[in-house]
Parts: sequence; C-alpha cells; structure tokens
Amino acid sequence: MDMDKLVSLCKRRGFIFPSSEIYGGINGFWDYGPLGVELKRNIKDAWWHDNVHMRDDMVGLDCSIIMHPRVWEASGHVGGFSDPMVDCKDCKGRFRADQVAVVCLHAGQDFADSKREQRFWFSALGDSQQAVAEANGKDYKKAEAKLATHPNGSAARTFYPISASLGQPEYADFPCPTCKKQGTLTEPRAFNLMFESHAGAIADEANKVYLRPETAQGIFANYKNVVDTGRVKTPFGIAQVGKSFRNEINPRNFTFRSREFEQMEIEFFCHPSEAAQWYKYWRDTRFQWYVDHGLRSDKLRLRDHDPDELAFYSKATADIEYSFPFGISELEGIAHRGDYDLSQHQKFSGKDLSYFDEERKERYVPHVIEPSAGADRATLAFLCEAYVEDEVGGEARTVLKFHPRFAPIKAAVFPLVKKDGMPELAEKIYRDLKRQFNVFYDEKGAIGRRYRRQDEAGTPFCLTVDGQSLTDGTITIRDRDTCRQWRIASSGAVQALRDLLEGQPIPSGE
Ligand code: GAP
Repeated sequence: MDMDKLVSLCKRRGFIFPSSEIYGGINGFWDYGPLGVELKRNIKDAWWHDNVHMRDDMVGLDCSIIMHPRVWEASGHVGGFSDPMVDCKDCKGRFRADQVAVVCLHAGQDFADSKREQRFWFSALGDSQQAVAEANGKDYKKAEAKLATHPNGSAARTFYPISASLGQPEYADFPCPTCKKQGTLTEPRAFNLMFESHAGAIADEANKVYLRPETAQGIFANYKNVVDTGRVKTPFGIAQVGKSFRNEINPRNFTFRSREFEQMEIEFFCHPSEAAQWYKYWRDTRFQWYVDHGLRSDKLRLRDHDPDELAFYSKATADIEYSFPFGISELEGIAHRGDYDLSQHQKFSGKDLSYFDEERKERYVPHVIEPSAGADRATLAFLCEAYVEDEVGGEARTVLKFHPRFAPIKAAVFPLVKKDGMPELAEKIYRDLKRQFNVFYDEKGAIGRRYRRQDEAGTPFCLTVDGQSLTDGTITIRDRDTCRQWRIASSGAVQALRDLLEGQPIPSGE
C-alpha cells in the first residue's frame, strides 16, 4: 500500500488534515476531520469499553495535562527524557545524534582491505537504538547484525572511516545531513523532549511547568486517591486516555510520530509474586485485541526486548509492532515496571504508597504492568490495514474495510431517485436509525457514485429505497466488502443493521 495514496485519501475525505493548514501547517501536529474524529473516537471507545467497562478489576481516570513539576523529577523525565542531539553550526539544523552517525563497526572480513584494523562509522537513517546499544557495548558484530535487520539499515550503508583510536564518534567528521557541509556539527548534547510552559503571570524558573509526555504519571500520582476511595483491591488497574506532548526532533510518517498525540494507558497493580503472570497476560491480551479488530496477525509482531534494551528498573518489556508501509514500527509497549514508579513517587512526595493486602495480611508496594498504546498510531494502523483498491463490475474503487466497530459511519441511506415518495421513506428510515447509530443520508447523484463514496468512507452498509419499496415495504441493503445486495423489510432496518454490525453473517447467494 502506498502511503501517499492513504495520506491523500485522508485529506480528501476528511479523516486527517495538517494542523493550521491555511497558515502552511505546523510540523508534527495533525487535525482529525469529520470522518477521522469518529474513527479515532470509536477506537478509543472500544479500548475503554473492553478494558474498563467489561472488566471487574479496572477503573478509569482523567488527569490534568499539567501537573506538579516534581512529578516529572520523580518519573525521571526531567533528568532523563532526552535525546542526544547534534547541531549544525552553519545551517542551524538539529539532528538526533544516532541519525547522523550511528554505529562504530569493526571492520571485519567483509570490509577487509588495507584498512583492516580500522573502524568505520555506519550512518543509519532510522531509529537504531538497539544497534547503538550494541555498539556502545563495543559488540560491533552484533550491532552490525541488528542494523542489517533494520528497515533503513541497508539503505543507509554509508561508511565513514575515522581514526583507529576511536571509542566515540567525532561528529565533525560527518557531513551535515541538510547542508552537507563537513566540520560544522557540534558534539551531542542532551535535548529534553518535554514542552515547557509557565503557570501564572511570571515566566520564571519557579513557575516552570511541563505538558505531560505520557498519561501514565497522572495514574501513579492518583494511585493513593483511588485506593483510598475504597473501590479497588489488588490485582487492579487504572486506565486513562488522553493527550500527551513530546517535542519530537523528527516528527515523521504522517501521524505516526507527532508532537501532540493521544495515549491509551493502563497501570495494572499487583502482588510482586504475580507480576510475571500478569505481564504475560497483558502482553497476549493486548496483541489479540489488535487481531480481533482486523489487523492481520501476519502484519503484527510481538517483540520481546533483549535484556540489554530494558530500562534498568524494567523486568521485561514487549512491543506490539505493525508492518506499516514505511516499515515495522511500534504500536504499543507492554512493560513490567516492578515497583519503580510507586517507589519513586513515594520518595519524592514523602507519602506512603504501600498497600495493605487484606487477604494476604501483608503490606507491600505493588508491582506494575503497563500496557501503553497510542490512539493515533492505532488509528493509522487500522487505516493502513483497511485501505484496499479493488474492482467492482469492471470499475476500480478504493474502499476502507474497517471493522464495523470502528467504521465512522455505520450505514448510509439512499432513495434510488429523488421522486415518487422514495426520499420520504428513506428519510424516515434514516431518522429511525439515527437514534441508535451514526448514519448518513444522501439523495444526490448516481447511485453507483453514492456507493463508491461510502466505500471510501468505510461505511459497512448502504440501505436503498427503490420502486419496490413503495409497494412491498422492502429495501435493499448492500455490503461494503462483497458489494452483495439483498432485501430486508424497511420496518426491521434498525434490528437488521444491529445484527450485521454485531457480526451476523451476510446472506449468501443473492
Ligand atoms: N508510559 C509509557 C510510554 O509512554 P512510550 O513507548 O514512550 O511509553 C507509548 O509510548 C505509546 O505511545 C507508543 O507505543 C505509541 O503508540 C505512542 N506514542 C509515543 N510517542 C508518540 C509520538 N511521538 N507520536 C504518536 N504516538 C506516540
């Protein structure tokens, strides 16, 4: 699937627009149009329904975006949430250090020549943290192997010879990725990804606040409130959906890496002895959620982090990855975080965040399993998966084959022609359906064109009032994916649509 085609469909049909487009747009920010807002909302609602309403061990929360700045000291975001960046002194470009020149590879057999013992720098254009980790550990062979599996690795095989005594890159050796001048890059400096602002009238250090870079910390900061209100006992989870902000250096791949995005996060608190089991449970349950909603399992991958990729406090982490047109990339992370977060907040706030387990008669700081998903990334993956170009009756069409739960419009209602009482009956059906579902009424243009427009919007069913409807009270219903049509009683349209949306098979043969 061609990403450009999807981006253009999203724009043309009102799924996603560049933010502030009339002013030329702003890098890393996107707006959801009339169809996009329904799609993303349906995804978030389905996530909430399945993870909060359908469970007995989960409650929800909605925290403020700006929190006490100490929260971000406790979480490690003030000190550590940074990318090493290099600046070009000439063109003022700023780049992630690992994207300029990444991995020091030992010049092994493959590159054997007069420089046999020399080391080379490998410039990789994509994310290559794993390779960097290996290189930092001086295992250049492993680093090379990691990069070879990286989607951008082979495209980026540019080798820069540097001095043999190397342990660290000398950025001055590399050309600036933008202006291509040599010797203009600075050494890497930490660049914090949190957006800063000031609370109150005076813009000084004392009033400095941050836009949250994840929703998770609001959950930890409220953990005691939730426990004290008495509704929960371990094992239990707290779920939150909301905006997060990161000043990403290189926003890219449409909405995939944005500077403002939405997260759907769960912090699941349990007894330390049960944490490994719950980790496995959430890892598998979250993977299956994407499969159940239409992401083909051959395009999804559950990737366990290598021990050397883990944060020092994490006992295990897995990423759910999807094969996007631009490469295999993370949709959601599931992390076994031990008692790190609650212990940190206990230390920084001075409040006791331990939990007394009535059943075990034991006091402990619960361990946490964190399934952390991105609503925009999920929306993008479901859009990519749904996008199909096929042919119906010799005519090419573009169709978005969304899971019915996610489809922005559940059904469209048409009068075949705009006369003979057909619009009146169609409008009555539309009004009846509208009480229960998001439906659309359209009486303009050729019926074939109206079907195509709904196919592009991903509408699962179209209901059409025709001449026969006026005599026997039946209407046609058309299935988006097969284009098959059959007749139902117009008086039973609400129930018929409900059954179909809930997965009742469509009649065969007609
Ligand atoms: N609390 C853990 C946490 O925030 P993360 O891996 O940094 O972990 C979790 O983020 C999820 O949030 C990612 O898997 C992704 O879906 C989404 N996400 C993170 N940064 C994003 C960005 N810049 N743009 C869009 N989504 C992002």
